[in-house]
Amino acid sequence: SGEVVAAGDAWWRTESRDRLLQLGAEATPRYVYHMPTVRQQARNLKTLAAVDRLHYAVKANTHPAILRALAEEGFGFECVSPGELKAVMAAVPESAPLLFTPNFAPREDYAWAFGTRATVSLDSLYPLEHWGEVFRGREIVLRVDLGRGLGHHEKVRTGGSGSKFGLPVDQIDTFLRLADTHSVTVRGLHAHLGSGILDDKHWGEVYGQLASLAERIGSVAFLDIGGGLGVPSHPGEARLDVAALDEVLRKVKAAYPHYKLWMEPGRYLVADAGVLLTRVTQQKGKGSWRYLGVDTGMNSLIRPALYDAWHEIVNLTRLDEPATALYQVVGPICESGDVIGSDRRLPEAKEGDVVLIAQAGAYGKVMSSPYNLRDEAEEIILD
Ligand code: LLP
Repeated sequence: SGEVVAAGDAWWRTESRDRLLQLGAEATPRYVYHMPTVRQQARNLKTLAAVDRLHYAVKANTHPAILRALAEEGFGFECVSPGELKAVMAAVPESAPLLFTPNFAPREDYAWAFGTRATVSLDSLYPLEHWGEVFRGREIVLRVDLGRGLGHHEKVRTGGSGSKFGLPVDQIDTFLRLADTHSVTVRGLHAHLGSGILDDKHWGEVYGQLASLAERIGSVAFLDIGGGLGVPSHPGEARLDVAALDEVLRKVKAAYPHYKLWMEPGRYLVADAGVLLTRVTQQKGKGSWRYLGVDTGMNSLIRPALYDAWHEIVNLTRLDEPATALYQVVGPICESGDVIGSDRRLPEAKEGDVVLIAQAGAYGKVMSSPYNLRDEAEEIILD
């Protein structure tokens, strides 16, 4: 149906709980991805009637089953490296649109990408100044910096002078002169302000700003207003209102109807679909603090250490027991920052309990590292 689904009980609390306990008892750490949730999130975004094309920002999660499912749902794919493009091309049918939006990439990445079917974006003068022959006669997308950034943490805001992304608006005329010299056509304009945005007004403003720039350029056919669609992380936080977002986009599009509207969400599609399973190793009391140790940490999920991100943590083995302990939940990595959650009220735990870290489907596995040479988390698909 075209219904946007309201927040219900997370899938892992309900029908999949027993299966998760079994998976966690077999081996940890494990990422588990629930495909019906990916598809539901995809269908929620497909209700955006104002949007002409959706590209999945694959940096959020590159598991081939997820790429395939989103291709089936009609998504294109936004990739930032040849590696991501190759992963997508290996997983999805040839008909899926591809967008290549690298940042500070070497010359050979662009040259290679033009040999694929991807639409290629530029976000600085340098490539046209120094590698004009690579771009001669091509159509490209120009990513601009609208002078401001947004998002859940300073490190994920991608606009303004403190950010390395995008061509500043005051360099557009120079860019267009260079483009003219090399017979390059600007077919699209692009802006992405950051990640984890829950305000539905923001994308309408971006469309309006890009459209007024496009009016000056003349050759532009589509406006890519980026991704950044957030999912609430703390209990009680409101979800992004997809119907309200559509309303905003429809209004601003009515003012500039001659452009196709593209978006490129990552997190929204996969965050809630993924959990990280880990098991209790040891406990320690230190002054008034109680540490609950689990068998993986910032090596598998770096978001709490890097952004102070909050992920719900539950003891899946004791989901129905009262939360009488106050824990600092920590991993086995040799860094004081290896804390997955502070001050968490949980049931009294025992060695071997299966602990679930929620909302780990976006920017989890893809940002993991071999640090300390701990085993990397496996990935399991539930369909
Ligand atoms: N488009 C561009 C050009 C991007 O740079 C990004 C994300 C996206 C789309 C997708 O954004 P999303 O819809 O997923 O918010 N590692 C951080 C997030 C970094 C996002 C980087 N760029 C995190 O874990 O919160």
